[in-house]
Amino acid sequence: MSSSTQEAQRQEDTHSEPLLSIQNLKKYYPITKGMFQRHVGDVKAVDDVSVDIYPGETHGLVGESGCGKSTLLETIIGLKSPTDGEVLFRGTPLTELSQSEVQDLRKEIQIVFQNPDSSLNSRMTVERIVSEPLQIHSNATSRQITARVLELIHEVGLNTEHLTRFPHELSGGQKQRVAIARALATNPSLVVLDEPTSALDVSVQSQILNMLDRLKEEHNLTYIFVTHDLSVVRHIADRISVMYLGNVVERAPVNDLFETPRHPYTKALLSAVPVPDPDYDATEDIVLSGDVPDPSEPPNGCRFHPRCPIATEDCKEGFPEFEAHGETLVRCIRVDEGRGHTESTN
Ligand SMILES: Nc1ncnc2c1ncn2[C@@H]1O[C@H](COP(=O)(O)OP(=O)(O)OP(=O)(O)O)[C@@H](O)[C@H]1O
Ligand SMILES: [Mg+2]
Repeated sequence: MSSSTQEAQRQEDTHSEPLLSIQNLKKYYPITKGMFQRHVGDVKAVDDVSVDIYPGETHGLVGESGCGKSTLLETIIGLKSPTDGEVLFRGTPLTELSQSEVQDLRKEIQIVFQNPDSSLNSRMTVERIVSEPLQIHSNATSRQITARVLELIHEVGLNTEHLTRFPHELSGGQKQRVAIARALATNPSLVVLDEPTSALDVSVQSQILNMLDRLKEEHNLTYIFVTHDLSVVRHIADRISVMYLGNVVERAPVNDLFETPRHPYTKALLSAVPVPDPDYDATEDIVLSGDVPDPSEPPNGCRFHPRCPIATEDCKEGFPEFEAHGETLVRCIRVDEGRGHTESTN
């Protein structure tokens, strides 16, 4: 049974149909050389990722810089075309949508980027920024649009006085609130958030996270939330996919991931999070050695093996399929040994 079939079966009892189904998705960036742009290789930014996103969940996507998180999001929402694989929204492959269905989909899936300075048009007022998607995607009258913009602005904690301001007249947190209001304008069902709080002060971060939590409930939203900050994802996610070098290596409900991380890479990521506990035993920590390998020449076998503290010769042989351990799916042939390794250092 393939890993995605296994996962689908496992989810069947507990969930409804997936809202979004990512199937064996690949996104390669070609590397060219010379005057004639000869194709000499590919950056394998996303290399065979499958995951189902269920209505109402917040799916966290974590991993080191360069592991393909943004590329995955941008391919899902159609900003980039996939090299291979498929994305289905409510069961329909995006490639089979008609022109008008693509327009509808643009309303259903919205994105919030990390940096509002580059995602908000600096020459538009807040009112124009938030009303633009309504002008494009709805037949509402200008009076209705004005009323809706006001409603959205209040929902994200801003008020009438902000409407006439330009982005440079707002704080970082206020700008991100505007970006969120704009994303909500078309009543989406899925919002993908690419590091939405990492450019903000810590105090503002938690305000925005709490607001996102509230908006999710009020608008029946589903989130895919990308972050490199594990404390943020612990706060907001229901399930988490851990990415390494273009692949997902572990997927688990949030508590399982933090309480019983299984993949050595997940353990290493969690080890890097400071623990505010004086009795905490840091000898269990796994410290990653070496750099992330070049994604144009990923290692054979398990992609993580050159940096893995418990890798054996077998790990150089093939990339393992997902295996279920309780509700956790993990791609590692050394999972059980990994647990022994951690315990033996106690
Ligand atoms: N337009 C592009 N052309 C060529 N390579 C690219 C392009 N965009 C991204 N890449 C490469 O693809 C890989 C994945 O990049 P991506 O931006 O998706 O990673 P990320 O996980 O979002 O990283 P970060 O945490 O730093 O945002 C990296 O090796 C990156 O250099
Ligand atoms: Mg990114």
